[in-house]
Amino acid sequence: MYNQIENYMTNVDEVMDLIHKYQYLFKKRDGAKTFYTRYGNASLKQIYHYDMPEELTEAIFKTIPIKWTDRLNYCVNKYEAGDHIPKHKESDGSYWMFKLIFLQSDKPHFKYWDEQDEEHLVEEKPGASFNMHLGTLHAVTEVGQNEKPKYSIVIMQGLDMHQRKVA
Ligand SMILES: [Fe+2]
Repeated sequence: MYNQIENYMTNVDEVMDLIHKYQYLFKKRDGAKTFYTRYGNASLKQIYHYDMPEELTEAIFKTIPIKWTDRLNYCVNKYEAGDHIPKHKESDGSYWMFKLIFLQSDKPHFKYWDEQDEEHLVEEKPGASFNMHLGTLHAVTEVGQNEKPKYSIVIMQGLDMHQRKVA
């Protein structure tokens, strides 16, 4: 089952304002060992929870139906022109909870493959969460030169979550 839950986060503007305020905290994860997929390396920038200012964490958890606890692993993802994530699945990262929230995207870039191996591009609605089972193959297609950066949030819980940083 795959579906987008609209208005999962209802304070996207507030979250985006803070993300712009803390742009300098994004770190490039291009080629990182932990971001290798069997289809190649990912390229994107992230702010991980341990680098996140409290006001950004508070804004992220203000309206969504997930409570902020220190057992959660979460990050903001930023994809600029040329950035992408190759095909992969979250079950490779030992997660049992994985929540993806779309914030901003000029064009659809989130792609998944259904049980029949048909690919689908998702029209990413700001504030929507995307429901998929953990074994779903998915990718972020390359952001084009004339597009604004794409942003999303990922909230995860799983084994070895302090070592693994798969988005
Ligand atoms: Fe992923």
